[in-house]
Amino acid sequence: MFAFLNKKDPVETTELKLDPKRIPAHVAIIMDGNGRWAKARHLPRVAGHKEGMNTVKKVTIAASNLGVKVLTLYAFSTENWKRPTDEVNYLMQLPVNFFETFVPDLIKNNVRVSVMGYTDKLPASTQKAVKDAIADTKDCDGMVLNFALNYGSRAEMVTGIQKIARQVAAGELAVDEIDDQTVDEALMTAPLAPYHDPDLLIRTSGEERLSNFLLWQIAYSELEFTDVKWPDFTATTLQACIAAFQSRDRRFGGLSAKK
Ligand code: IPE
Ligand code: IPE
Ligand code: MG
Repeated sequence: MFAFLNKKDPVETTELKLDPKRIPAHVAIIMDGNGRWAKARHLPRVAGHKEGMNTVKKVTIAASNLGVKVLTLYAFSTENWKRPTDEVNYLMQLPVNFFETFVPDLIKNNVRVSVMGYTDKLPASTQKAVKDAIADTKDCDGMVLNFALNYGSRAEMVTGIQKIARQVAAGELAVDEIDDQTVDEALMTAPLAPYHDPDLLIRTSGEERLSNFLLWQIAYSELEFTDVKWPDFTATTLQACIAAFQSRDRRFGGLSAKK
């Protein structure tokens, strides 16, 4: 985060100058801190999730307006089943409420919904909400709003490795033909090509870990950690993260393009 921004406070008013030609094509966000946001207000944890859903709406429109091509949001991990049943049930109901109220706005903003994760393990009502939202927005060709729902990077890699091994066993692929592209195509981000790898990964709430998110795909992503808890994240916080991204020198192992 830029030094002139107070990491502790959500930024509400600062207008930041962004270079429209260097907007990160794929922004991925680990939306964290809903529970702590609620706790600080003496509210139940689920109140944080509810407010977090409103943040998703605002940030989706903001990202789309900025020209982001893919916005991937980590909504539920393969490890989040460890939480109390009531909280898990609430989190499973959220996509239903979200899409019920927000699909018209998504269509208006030409945003297409996509989902990655083990969605077959979600409750039937959640699966239906997701399927309907994908169908309702299938003709939108602006930003892709990609939810990671019951997603885990290690499980994704295991599934991908199994897929590749099956191709080898069936004689469709030689071991020596396996390369980066083979792996890209075996992962859940494959449909996002050419934007399958995030350019910018943001994690909110002050935690600085990946929590099993996109481990292969972030090999060269720029990472941005902010103390702002997800319900307090705004369009301006997003702009500040993108400003920080634009200040980075991405070398990909080579030398600086700048002198
Ligand atoms: C992120 O907020 C939402 C999900 C992981 C589903 P948390 O619920 O993890 O909030 P904290 O980290 O407990 O504050
Ligand atoms: C990561 O947040 C998962 C999502 C944001 C969906 P967690 O809150 O589950 O991560 P940990 O437990 O702090 O690592
Ligand atoms: Mg958390």
